[in-house]
Amino acid sequence: MISLQNVSVRLRDKEILQDISFNIDDGKNLIILGKSGSGKTVLIKTMIGLFTPDKGQIRIDGINTSTGDKSAVNGVMQKISMVFQNAALIDSFTVFQNVALPLYEREQHTDAEIHERVVKCLELVGLLNVLELYPSELSGGMRKRVGIARALIYEPKYIIFDEPISGLDPVTADEILFYMSEIIRTQEITTITITHDLQNLKQIGDTILFINDGRSTYYDSIERFSNSSDPAVKEFIR
Ligand SMILES: Nc1ncnc2c1ncn2[C@@H]1O[C@H](COP(=O)(O)OP(=O)(O)O)[C@@H](O)[C@H]1O
Ligand SMILES: [Mg+2]
Repeated sequence: MISLQNVSVRLRDKEILQDISFNIDDGKNLIILGKSGSGKTVLIKTMIGLFTPDKGQIRIDGINTSTGDKSAVNGVMQKISMVFQNAALIDSFTVFQNVALPLYEREQHTDAEIHERVVKCLELVGLLNVLELYPSELSGGMRKRVGIARALIYEPKYIIFDEPISGLDPVTADEILFYMSEIIRTQEITTITITHDLQNLKQIGDTILFINDGRSTYYDSIERFSNSSDPAVKEFIR
């Protein structure tokens, strides 16, 4: 379980996030919505330890990420995988090598184990047929799926998607949403997805956290979101 309690974050003397609280139980799928610049990316970067809260606390599986002992904090952070907006693949590596790279770096696995895991992860995003291709030979949607496969390689307990479909054409976006929903349905994985897209929320989530100007003004089910009386939510879904 991930739990944030009254978290505030200042960056360069500016209050970016104020008093954010929420819980994600194991197996749940949270969606973070909000206008551009509202603080969504800063929020998830704070959760993975790239920024430090100046107030409040973050607990991941019971470990306080600010005050917990270093090895315990490292341990829980390793359970979280991020899919950044830009998949950042290595151009001179094949799809297989790109996905396998994190495992080679850990030097804990045999080649056969690595092969098995890479194949499993690429299967989850429908890319078994492109193992030997290079990123330049793939479409934008396929590159994105390779990025997702790479994020799955450690069998993370938590996975965070930052705007997984923004900038994609509608057909490619649907494809990514399909694979995300399949992963959510078939894997024991807890997800956080930042998105602007209001169309397909139920495929990839159960709860919405809405951020407006660094503050959470809605934290409840997807079903009730459209009936929220919060002015910022009303403007957002208009
Ligand atoms: N490293 C940083 N240092 C200072 N300010 C930052 C930094 N990263 C983001 N910000 C500011 O924090 C605010 C929220 O940004 P961000 O979380 O990226 O918004 P979004 O909701 O679009 O993801 C913006 O005003 C942005 O300029
Ligand atoms: Mg962002």
